[in-house]
Amino acid sequence: MTDKIKIFDTTLRDGEQAPGFSMNKEEKLGFAHQLELLGVDVIEAGFPVASRDDFEAVESIAKSLKTTEVCGLARCHSGDIDAALMATEKAKKPRIHVFIATSDIHLEYKLKISRDEAIKKAVEAIRQCKKHCDRVDFSPEDAGRSDRDFLVEILSEAIKAGADTLNIPDTVGYLSPAEFGDLILYLNNNVPGIKNCIISTHCHNDLGMAVANSLSGALNGARQIECTINGIGERAGNAAMEEVVMAIKTRPELFKARTGINTPLLLKTSRMLSSITGQHVQINKAIVGDNAFAHEAGIHQHGLLKNKFTYEIMKPDDVGWNETNFVLGKHSGRNAVLDRLNKLGIKIAEADVAAFMMKFKDLADGKKHIYDDDLILLTKDKNEEMYYAIKEMKVEAQTGKKATATIKLKAGGDVIEGKATGNGSVDAVYNAIIKVTGFEGVLTKFNVDAISPQKDAIANANIGWLIDDVEIRGRGTSTDTVTAIANALIDVVNRYRIQQQHEEGLSGV
Ligand code: KIV
Ligand code: ZN
Repeated sequence: MTDKIKIFDTTLRDGEQAPGFSMNKEEKLGFAHQLELLGVDVIEAGFPVASRDDFEAVESIAKSLKTTEVCGLARCHSGDIDAALMATEKAKKPRIHVFIATSDIHLEYKLKISRDEAIKKAVEAIRQCKKHCDRVDFSPEDAGRSDRDFLVEILSEAIKAGADTLNIPDTVGYLSPAEFGDLILYLNNNVPGIKNCIISTHCHNDLGMAVANSLSGALNGARQIECTINGIGERAGNAAMEEVVMAIKTRPELFKARTGINTPLLLKTSRMLSSITGQHVQINKAIVGDNAFAHEAGIHQHGLLKNKFTYEIMKPDDVGWNETNFVLGKHSGRNAVLDRLNKLGIKIAEADVAAFMMKFKDLADGKKHIYDDDLILLTKDKNEEMYYAIKEMKVEAQTGKKATATIKLKAGGDVIEGKATGNGSVDAVYNAIIKVTGFEGVLTKFNVDAISPQKDAIANANIGWLIDDVEIRGRGTSTDTVTAIANALIDVVNRYRIQQQHEEGLSGV
């Protein structure tokens, strides 16, 4: 018999809250649609009480998904629960996930409450959820370091209050697979009423054991795994969905279970997340890293030619490898480009096709091979719609001398220009942008990489900029590295401007 293991995706909540992975509302909505296509059972879309943006992102995802459960996270506080209920109320299948810490160290130092008080808060919170929403997950945070008898007690009260799913977090990634599996088995055998609930896992990767721990949970009775695409999440991240899912699919005799994931979409989903956040997975990452199916050693290639399964335990097609890296170029016509976009799940309105093709041809003139990631980026290139955009830029740099940047920017309907020097090209360009826009703040993060192989690759710059005590993330791309870096600061300036207008309640951005 093969049981179904539910996949609960928390990329947009636990994943998004990690530094370097923030996404805007539109990006979250687009990604949630991809998760629905991928076949995840539940999407934890955010923590609605955390900010207005989070609330609106959860709300728009809830309104627009058709089949997937949409979940909002809440602490056991009435205000959190109201926000989560409100944000998810339009979902076809709403779900609320409430949590409270249960380890002594969290109770004593963080919450400063007793075990009995924690039980009382959990029960009240679940009852409040149940008045408006049938589906309720309860998590005893830091369960991995909590007293087992106390876990049994609070979980049995949570069941009585109406929780249908009991999620067991190893919040700090402390347990080994054997210990985590044993904890799940213990709870499964000792919590009264648990057989009518789904046991779920939520494992962090601080010691690199999140996937192994989640799978050990599944072997011991868990029937839901909370995980994220590319394993993103707090600190070292969560269990990587692509790894969990492919382990279950590749070893049916071991897990005697299946997931509902449409695995050929895994790679595309992983790439989409990298492209949105600008954070790429390492080259040797299981399943979705560039080398995951690359065989270099002659002895391996020889074996593979005789029989693929000598060195390949999964089919690359099963995770979507053969669909990617389809190369387009300057001779590719409208049909080939639209067909490829279609395969990538991107639709362009008929009225926008001509303008898109012009952008495509411009890019193809400067860059021989256009890869899927390049195409995806091109569809997101909204420079011309933004208030500030670079019209012209000139940088003069010479070894041993200060660099000079001259910049001309579109600023709404106007053009502004200026010149500045700096310690190198990037410093000079940034000083020029700051001078002409009057923008302030300090650079806190700086990362530049290439979107695709080859020396004419598109450079992808991601920066963090601290202003008014808030870090704004910006992203810029270009076939020219310094222009990509300049675009990233322009992105920050535009985002800051939008944020200011939002706060001032102005319209017409
Ligand atoms: O890691 C954790 O404990 C969490 C909870 C909110 C489930 O993310
Ligand atoms: Zn977590």
